[in-house]
Amino acid sequence: MIIATNLKTNFTRKHTKEYVLSIQKFLQSNPTTNEIIVFPTPTALDNFNTDIIIGAQNAYPTVNGAFTGETGTQQLDEFNIKTILIGHSERRHILHESQELIAQKFQYFKNLGYKIVFCIGEPKEIREKGKANMMKYIHTQLQGVDLQYENLILAYEPVWAIGSGHLPSNEEIADLHLELRVTCKAPLLYGGSVKVNNIKEVISLPNVDGVLVGSGALNVNDFCSMTRYSTQN
Ligand code: PGA
Repeated sequence: MIIATNLKTNFTRKHTKEYVLSIQKFLQSNPTTNEIIVFPTPTALDNFNTDIIIGAQNAYPTVNGAFTGETGTQQLDEFNIKTILIGHSERRHILHESQELIAQKFQYFKNLGYKIVFCIGEPKEIREKGKANMMKYIHTQLQGVDLQYENLILAYEPVWAIGSGHLPSNEEIADLHLELRVTCKAPLLYGGSVKVNNIKEVISLPNVDGVLVGSGALNVNDFCSMTRYSTQN
């Protein structure tokens, strides 16, 4: 199982360090075979001296250069970051990142061998148009993505489930993950309103290889518990 958290624009540098160290300490007394990934806010990236995988929430496909406000691999290399989140719905919908740029990022970081957690997921109005439309939309979000890439992890995160407290039904999650599994052998994460009290059910579903958690992981004790629940699955 892969248990990942996207901390988004939360926590200071100091708080993030405490957060990562708390998880590290917890895992020392509660070892797990799960892969644990934390995506801190960019200013909080650091060398944490931990077994937890630390990833970037975003980066620009460049080493360095004139890209105001962006982060390149020169900055990521300083902290040995080799994991990146690409295509998150907030970058697609709030920051209007195009599929073209998302695909360009995928290609760039793939060429560098990064572990890529690639996010896809439909808005409510697309889901309401029926399954065929939903699958078409999701396949559009995968354009330019090499589904055979060995360091790919796919995260299915319905936009309407993110931060809303509303998850698709178990059958809907299982059905979508089965559709993805047919074309992609990569681990499949579910994300969107996963919490400490529903994670066990989510990860027990077929073809769910882990979770990507946002708000439900902001409490470090909850996130620590989540790393344990999965192994009891
Ligand atoms: P959420 O966010 O857990 O707060 O719904 C998930 C995500 O955006 O990755």
